[in-house]
Amino acid sequence: MLSTSGSDLENATFVSQLNEMISSRKKMTNVLYQVILAGKAPRKLLKHFVLQRYPIKNFWTRNILGIAARLDDYRLRSELIENIYEEETGALTKTRRHLETFVDFGVCLGLSRADIVACRDLLPETEAVIEHNVGTCNRSDIDFTQGVASVLLLMEGQPPIVNRDGLSMESVMRDVYRLPPKGYEYFSVHASATEGQKVSEIEEDHASTAREILTRYCTSDELRSKAIAALERAINLRHAHFSAIYERFYDPTEPPFRV
Ligand SMILES: [Fe+2]
Repeated sequence: MLSTSGSDLENATFVSQLNEMISSRKKMTNVLYQVILAGKAPRKLLKHFVLQRYPIKNFWTRNILGIAARLDDYRLRSELIENIYEEETGALTKTRRHLETFVDFGVCLGLSRADIVACRDLLPETEAVIEHNVGTCNRSDIDFTQGVASVLLLMEGQPPIVNRDGLSMESVMRDVYRLPPKGYEYFSVHASATEGQKVSEIEEDHASTAREILTRYCTSDELRSKAIAALERAINLRHAHFSAIYERFYDPTEPPFRV
């Protein structure tokens, strides 16, 4: 045998299966993202998009820390810590806590900061996503590789959010909804600003850390099938959450939002 062992091949197949699951049901396959990217979202839909997405994003750093806390490899752990440090502080890019830029998007839509951070009116479909993410990343009785596949890789491995005309979330927010820079800053750095057909370099690094963790730790058939099942479940829950936002808050008779 030269260089590739049987288990290396199994791992490569496993990781490409996860990638395929993620890209075949990427965000743009959901009607919520299609209507937003088409520039047709009324103010109410965008406001509720912020209110329902914020709490999931607010758990993100703790979810990833739950994975990091159980990772004995120093280099891989430090890559996650660096990711989270930047996320929580913006210090590496000399910006600020990333989540605050999402709050600013909501403020530009007419919400107050308090409306967003203290929103208690969560849809059951939103709660279900949080419960899944906390369950797979933070619960010590569930192997952390399930969290890596179904939370870390699912988020960081998302293909760019781009519509058929090649417009990104960032360009639609800026040029169609006409948000000021503060309103679309979030979308300049997250799975939305596209550099060619690639997502930002930062997100690509994070996705490769996730793939490396899986190759290293998700090494038995049992672990791999549990990680696949967790990802399948997470994708279903996220689409149910996106669809619930669309069904509950989209009224096509309302005019599209414009600043
Ligand atoms: Fe971020």
